[in-house]
Amino acid sequence: MAGTVLSVAALDHRVVDRCYATFASVYDRVCGDVLQAGRHEAIRELNLEGGEDVLEVGIGTGLTASLYPGTCRVTGIDASAAMLREAASHIGPGRNIELMRMDAHHLTFPSESFDVVYAAYVMSVVADPVVALREMRRVCRAGGRIVLLNHFLSHAPLASRFERLISPLTARIGFRSDVDLHLLLEHAGLHAVSIRKVNRPRIWSLVRCQREASHGGKSLVAACHPQGDADDHAQHGEKERKELEDEHRPVSSLHVGHCGQEG
Ligand SMILES: C[S@@+](CC[C@H](N)C(=O)[O-])C[C@H]1O[C@@H](n2cnc3c(N)ncnc32)[C@H](O)[C@@H]1O
Repeated sequence: MAGTVLSVAALDHRVVDRCYATFASVYDRVCGDVLQAGRHEAIRELNLEGGEDVLEVGIGTGLTASLYPGTCRVTGIDASAAMLREAASHIGPGRNIELMRMDAHHLTFPSESFDVVYAAYVMSVVADPVVALREMRRVCRAGGRIVLLNHFLSHAPLASRFERLISPLTARIGFRSDVDLHLLLEHAGLHAVSIRKVNRPRIWSLVRCQREASHGGKSLVAACHPQGDADDHAQHGEKERKELEDEHRPVSSLHVGHCGQEG
């Protein structure tokens, strides 16, 4: 079952919005410490240098904020006003972190605005992870880093069957348990430079991608479909963005072939 469908569940953004509006004040107690090891690993993975511009998508209550080096300029976006309020109260004055309310599916930044684009525990909760990741790729400069921290569909047959089974149920409370990483990257025109497991139990993945240079190497999409137009997509962010608006479909309707690459 794994590897043929991006997710079997449809996620209603209104459910997600309600969830974070309701639980913002207790979010840190529920998802703080238990997922913090992964956030620390992610910051190391970002490999930030002084002066770099960072975009954190779905910054939530700002649990990563204190981990950024003070020499970077960080922009944190989130769809939830309640989560952003919590973030604002955590992030002390003097930090170089700007918070903005924005939808990950429609980032309002010009293409190639950031050196690093990062999202922690977000790909399971956005209505369309492909659109969100394509947006992340669009706003990342050529050669820049895109880092995802998330739970993705397991490769183990039993576990993946279970994750597929419960995903329509978990979607009712605001997240998918069965997002297929390889199909997600394939559809977003990215390939992973590294994938490793983090947190305990080790069911979350830290995925680092590099935004291809303008005429750089083949994307995973192209590797799967050498005759296809994937590279053209990867190299023309604005054109693709336009096409995305035209092609926007629910994730659950995406049934695509698996090209068999493992992380
Ligand atoms: C599980 S929380 C993760 C928060 C934070 N990254 C962390 O490490 O704790 C997911 C966050 O994604 C945000 N989110 C969900 N859908 C979004 C969207 N379409 N655009 C922007 N943020 C979104 C939620 O409001 C929430 O703050």
